[in-house]
Amino acid sequence: MPDLVKILVINGPNLNMLGTREPKIYGADTLADMETRCRAICDAEGASLGWMQTNGEAEMVTTIQQASGKFDWIVINAAGLTHSSVPLRDALALFPGRKIEVHLSNIHKREPFRHHSMSSAVVDGVVLGFGGMSYVMAIKGVIDMARESR
Ligand code: DQA
Repeated sequence: MPDLVKILVINGPNLNMLGTREPKIYGADTLADMETRCRAICDAEGASLGWMQTNGEAEMVTTIQQASGKFDWIVINAAGLTHSSVPLRDALALFPGRKIEVHLSNIHKREPFRHHSMSSAVVDGVVLGFGGMSYVMAIKGVIDMARESR
Protein backbone atom coordinates (compact mmCIF):
# COMPACT_ATOMS: atom_id res chain seq x y z
CA MET A 1 0.00 0.00 0.00
CA PRO A 2 1.38 3.47 -0.80
CA ASP A 3 2.37 5.74 2.08
CA LEU A 4 -0.42 7.98 3.39
CA VAL A 5 2.02 10.89 3.21
CA LYS A 6 5.80 11.34 3.01
CA ILE A 7 7.19 13.71 5.62
CA LEU A 8 10.76 14.98 5.94
CA VAL A 9 11.80 16.49 9.29
CA ILE A 10 14.81 18.81 9.06
CA ASN A 11 16.65 19.94 12.19
CA GLY A 12 19.16 22.77 12.23
CA PRO A 13 22.28 23.81 14.16
CA ASN A 14 22.80 22.73 17.77
CA LEU A 15 19.67 20.59 17.92
CA ASN A 16 22.01 17.57 18.05
CA MET A 17 22.87 18.87 21.55
CA LEU A 18 19.31 18.61 22.91
CA GLY A 19 19.23 16.80 26.24
CA THR A 20 22.20 18.75 27.56
CA ARG A 21 21.61 22.08 25.76
CA GLU A 22 19.95 24.68 28.03
CA PRO A 23 17.44 22.15 29.44
CA LYS A 24 15.44 24.88 31.19
CA ILE A 25 14.55 26.24 27.75
CA TYR A 26 14.59 23.13 25.56
CA GLY A 27 13.78 20.34 28.03
CA ALA A 28 15.56 17.08 28.79
CA ASP A 29 14.56 15.08 25.70
CA THR A 30 17.20 14.36 23.08
CA LEU A 31 16.63 14.74 19.35
CA ALA A 32 16.69 10.94 19.13
CA ASP A 33 13.80 10.84 21.64
CA MET A 34 11.75 13.16 19.40
CA GLU A 35 12.56 11.07 16.35
CA THR A 36 11.47 7.89 18.14
CA ARG A 37 8.16 9.50 19.10
CA CYS A 38 7.49 10.85 15.60
CA ARG A 39 8.52 7.58 13.95
CA ALA A 40 6.13 5.58 16.18
CA ILE A 41 3.25 7.84 15.11
CA CYS A 42 4.17 7.62 11.42
CA ASP A 43 4.58 3.83 11.57
CA ALA A 44 1.18 3.46 13.26
CA GLU A 45 -0.51 5.75 10.72
CA GLY A 46 1.10 4.45 7.53
CA ALA A 47 3.11 7.61 6.86
CA SER A 48 6.78 7.60 5.90
CA LEU A 49 9.27 9.71 7.80
CA GLY A 50 12.65 11.07 6.77
CA TRP A 51 14.68 12.66 9.56
CA MET A 52 17.91 14.65 9.42
CA GLN A 53 19.97 17.11 11.46
CA THR A 54 22.72 19.37 10.25
CA ASN A 55 24.78 22.18 11.69
CA GLY A 56 25.32 23.62 8.21
CA GLU A 57 23.22 26.11 6.28
CA ALA A 58 24.43 24.77 2.90
CA GLU A 59 23.52 21.19 3.78
CA MET A 60 20.09 22.34 4.88
CA VAL A 61 19.48 24.21 1.62
CA THR A 62 20.66 21.21 -0.44
CA THR A 63 18.44 18.86 1.57
CA ILE A 64 15.38 21.04 0.89
CA GLN A 65 16.21 21.21 -2.84
CA GLN A 66 16.61 17.43 -3.02
CA ALA A 67 13.34 16.84 -1.13
CA SER A 68 11.40 18.13 -4.14
CA GLY A 69 9.38 15.30 -5.67
CA LYS A 70 10.39 12.88 -2.91
CA PHE A 71 8.46 14.29 0.06
CA ASP A 72 4.96 15.78 0.35
CA TRP A 73 5.68 17.80 3.48
CA ILE A 74 8.70 19.32 5.17
CA VAL A 75 8.60 19.87 8.93
CA ILE A 76 11.51 22.13 9.81
CA ASN A 77 13.14 23.42 12.94
CA ALA A 78 15.87 25.58 11.41
CA ALA A 79 17.02 26.57 14.93
CA GLY A 80 19.23 29.70 14.87
CA LEU A 81 19.08 29.87 11.05
CA THR A 82 15.37 30.65 11.38
CA HIS A 83 16.24 34.19 12.32
CA SER A 84 18.98 34.91 9.82
CA SER A 85 18.96 32.77 6.70
CA VAL A 86 17.73 34.18 3.40
CA PRO A 87 19.03 31.09 1.50
CA LEU A 88 16.93 28.87 3.77
CA ARG A 89 13.84 31.02 3.19
CA ASP A 90 14.41 30.91 -0.57
CA ALA A 91 14.88 27.12 -0.57
CA LEU A 92 11.63 26.65 1.36
CA ALA A 93 9.81 29.02 -0.99
CA LEU A 94 10.71 26.90 -4.01
CA PHE A 95 9.87 23.53 -2.42
CA PRO A 96 6.65 22.51 -4.22
CA GLY A 97 5.15 20.57 -1.29
CA ARG A 98 3.78 21.91 1.97
CA LYS A 99 5.81 23.03 4.97
CA ILE A 100 5.48 23.45 8.73
CA GLU A 101 7.92 25.44 10.85
CA VAL A 102 8.50 24.03 14.34
CA HIS A 103 10.17 25.40 17.47
CA LEU A 104 10.50 23.85 20.89
CA SER A 105 10.43 27.20 22.64
CA ASN A 106 8.08 30.16 22.20
CA ILE A 107 10.48 32.37 20.24
CA HIS A 108 8.20 35.40 20.78
CA LYS A 109 8.70 35.21 24.54
CA ARG A 110 12.49 35.23 24.24
CA GLU A 111 15.20 37.71 23.16
CA PRO A 112 14.05 40.25 20.54
CA PHE A 113 16.41 38.82 17.88
CA ARG A 114 14.44 35.56 18.01
CA HIS A 115 11.06 37.22 17.40
CA HIS A 116 11.49 37.40 13.65
CA SER A 117 11.46 34.27 11.51
CA MET A 118 12.76 34.49 7.94
CA SER A 119 10.77 31.39 7.02
CA SER A 120 7.33 31.94 8.61
CA ALA A 121 6.08 33.86 5.57
CA VAL A 122 6.81 30.97 3.20
CA VAL A 123 5.46 28.03 5.22
CA ASP A 124 1.90 26.76 5.62
CA GLY A 125 1.90 26.68 9.41
CA VAL A 126 3.96 27.16 12.55
CA VAL A 127 3.94 25.13 15.80
CA LEU A 128 5.96 26.52 18.69
CA GLY A 129 6.28 26.59 22.44
CA PHE A 130 5.25 23.02 23.26
CA GLY A 131 8.73 21.59 23.76
CA GLY A 132 9.15 18.19 22.12
CA MET A 133 5.37 18.09 21.69
CA SER A 134 5.72 20.74 18.96
CA TYR A 135 7.15 18.03 16.68
CA VAL A 136 4.43 15.54 17.64
CA MET A 137 1.69 18.11 17.00
CA ALA A 138 3.14 19.01 13.60
CA ILE A 139 3.39 15.35 12.56
CA LYS A 140 -0.13 14.56 13.78
CA GLY A 141 -1.48 17.67 12.02
CA VAL A 142 0.13 16.68 8.74
CA ILE A 143 -1.26 13.13 9.03
CA ASP A 144 -4.78 14.41 9.83
CA MET A 145 -4.67 16.73 6.83
CA ALA A 146 -3.44 13.92 4.58
CA ARG A 147 -6.32 11.71 5.76
CA GLU A 148 -8.87 14.48 5.16
CA SER A 149 -7.65 15.11 1.64
CA ARG A 150 -7.86 11.41 0.63
C1 DQA B 1 14.67 26.99 18.40
C2 DQA B 1 14.63 28.48 18.74
C3 DQA B 1 15.80 29.21 18.10
O1 DQA B 1 15.77 30.59 18.43
C4 DQA B 1 17.12 28.63 18.61
O2 DQA B 1 18.21 29.26 17.96
C5 DQA B 1 17.18 27.16 18.48
C6 DQA B 1 16.00 26.37 18.80
C7 DQA B 1 13.57 26.20 19.15
O3 DQA B 1 13.31 25.08 18.75
O4 DQA B 1 13.00 26.69 20.12
O5 DQA B 1 18.24 26.59 18.20
O6 DQA B 1 14.44 26.83 17.01
